[in-house]
Amino acid sequence: MAKLKVNGKLVDIEVDDSTPLLWVLREQLGLTGTKYSCGIGLCGSCTVHLDGEAVRSCLIPVSTLDATQEITTIEGLSADGDHPVQQAWQELDVPQCGYCQPGMIMSAAALLKNNPDPSDADIDANVTNICRCGTFNRVRRGIHLASANLNKSNNKRGGA
Ligand code: FES
Ligand code: FES
Repeated sequence: MAKLKVNGKLVDIEVDDSTPLLWVLREQLGLTGTKYSCGIGLCGSCTVHLDGEAVRSCLIPVSTLDATQEITTIEGLSADGDHPVQQAWQELDVPQCGYCQPGMIMSAAALLKNNPDPSDADIDANVTNICRCGTFNRVRRGIHLASANLNKSNNKRGGA
């Protein structure tokens, strides 16, 4: 039995220690927004935040986690789907089939938290998720739009 903190709530789970976090999220907790694709850390579709950093949940055995760590999934990123990255995604119609997009959004949100004004090179270096539909150009535009909107609202707050 392990205790984890997922989207702000403490949860008890009964799984083998070697079970990847991805399967705990999807099968024990029903948080199916986090997607399985490669299972070997290459594609990023399983990306969640661990203490605010983007991580690939298919690579993290649950035994390495404890309840002091904040795990955030796409379901917990914002209350109403209104995180600046989600808003930019809607505005630019970023997704195509959508399968990779929860992971893309989690990677983009973590990048903007660490670097509010990323260059194209920063995006390429940090958002290494794979999209079979080839939405990479729109993902990049979405990150720049989210960055611009975030910086605008921070400036407004700073100037108020
Ligand atoms: S499923 Fe985790 S990186 Fe591909
Ligand atoms: S939108 Fe289809 S895999 Fe990325």
